[in-house]
Amino acid sequence: MSEQATQRLINKLHALVGPAGLLTDAEAQAPYLTDWLGKWKGATPVVVRPANTAETAAVVRLCSETHTPIVTQGGNTGMSGGATPDASGAQVVLSTTRMNRVRAIDPINNTLTVDAGVILAHAHDAARSVDRFFPLSLGAQGSCTVGGNVATNAGGIAVLRYGNTRDLVLGLEVVLPDGRIWHGLRGLRKDNTGYDLKGLFIGSEGTLGVITGVVLKLFPQPTAHATAWVGAESLEKLVDLLSLMRTRCGERLTAFEMMTAASLQLVLDQVTDTRAPLAQPAPFNALIELSDTDEAGLRDLLEESLGESMAAGLTNDVMLSASEAQTMALWKLREGISQAQVRAGKAIKHDIALPISSLASFVAQAGQDVLACMPDARIVNFGHLGDGNLHYNVLMPPDAGDDALKRRTHELNGVVHQLVTDYGGSISAEHGVGQLRRDELRLYKSPVEMELMLRIKQAMDPNHLMNPGKLL
Ligand code: FAD
Ligand code: MLT
Ligand code: ZN
Repeated sequence: MSEQATQRLINKLHALVGPAGLLTDAEAQAPYLTDWLGKWKGATPVVVRPANTAETAAVVRLCSETHTPIVTQGGNTGMSGGATPDASGAQVVLSTTRMNRVRAIDPINNTLTVDAGVILAHAHDAARSVDRFFPLSLGAQGSCTVGGNVATNAGGIAVLRYGNTRDLVLGLEVVLPDGRIWHGLRGLRKDNTGYDLKGLFIGSEGTLGVITGVVLKLFPQPTAHATAWVGAESLEKLVDLLSLMRTRCGERLTAFEMMTAASLQLVLDQVTDTRAPLAQPAPFNALIELSDTDEAGLRDLLEESLGESMAAGLTNDVMLSASEAQTMALWKLREGISQAQVRAGKAIKHDIALPISSLASFVAQAGQDVLACMPDARIVNFGHLGDGNLHYNVLMPPDAGDDALKRRTHELNGVVHQLVTDYGGSISAEHGVGQLRRDELRLYKSPVEMELMLRIKQAMDPNHLMNPGKLL
């Protein structure tokens, strides 16, 4: 874009959103131009921060008329580079963070309606204020936005019980690529009036429109929790334990998170105020949580189920949390892994999903394949075992340069993702495609799937102005 054209665009945007809605100087723009991992960097003529849906629609209409591409950004905590503009300097960043109102809470209908820029933790608070619960829970909940959660179909630690974001959204309001508004903010559990338009925007990563409002499903507030840390000799045993816990505890089983000894050690080394939960380190660990609206028997159920699992030889060591403080300390170990990895250096990350019944066999085979390809690999394997979602990451040696990282990323992605595909899995379980997996997607999706996705994109965003270069 020429300097004059850029200035004209900025002047017009200024007229639409006012000075509080525009960031043009380099220092103010900087946080919007790189991602949480510091992996991608981009450039933009302007960061525009509309205050409401009408302003967003006006901005998108102007961008459509001037053929200006838009990168929508929420809390900028995404793991796939979806919210970072490219380096051309031609893409406008549209930040939703000023759209942060709770619009309505209906405890009878069990729905919460929010602006897309509402921080996830604030949505939790709003639900709690009417004695209800919004279950989506992830390490970034203090800064990610509900719109970003919808756009990435975020998962997290409670999917086992409540499902992904897709299962928690009843309605959406979306500004379409031409600036029109789709008013789909319905709070209905049943609506069979044609194609699932809402479903198309969930997981679309900003490529089909700007989500401006969301109706979320609420649940009864669980008031009782029982938490335990267990150690196991093998992943097979941990998978059997998961099966036993599901049978014994049913819907009360809320989280079943897995960490290998190496993942746990990384947190103990890198995050302050953490200590090992078990006297003897175990090769595989699980953090297990039961929850309910009724305290009665919850802790006994956990104790009895884990007693049974010890008798069956599935676990060797169990630590039952005795207090809220202990529970928080256990969760700090699990949620500290992302930060610990960043501190430990460069990592090649894989966010994969597999049938739970194949997890142990996959991990055994992947370990052999990865070490054959990279004998000095440090594998950091952890994740949401209850959903079959592993974060199968490989830490690079500290002295590895950018070229080595690039080459090894290419090699290891090939090895890991081919094996994932052979096992009937997915190469992106919950972090989306963004820039990270865009080029690989076509290797693992069938031509029919790719063609249908491209046709949807073409029908909805014919000028390819919404987050170009991402996902497809
Ligand atoms: P952003 O990063 O700003 O954007 C992500 C994508 O969504 C981009 O493609 C962007 O264009 C698009 N987008 C954002 N807002 C909108 C909108 N309103 N309309 C249209 N498109 C939009 N993810 C999980 O699923 N599970 C986890 O357990 C998990 N744990 C994490 C832990 C940490 C410490 C961190 C840093 C991240 C974690 N994530 C996890 C990843 C991340 O938090 C989620 O992907 C989250 O949903 C992103 O929300 P955001 O508001 O930050 O979106
Ligand atoms: C998590 O589950 O902690 C995040 O999704 C993982 C990550 O940092 O890769
Ligand atoms: Zn995760």
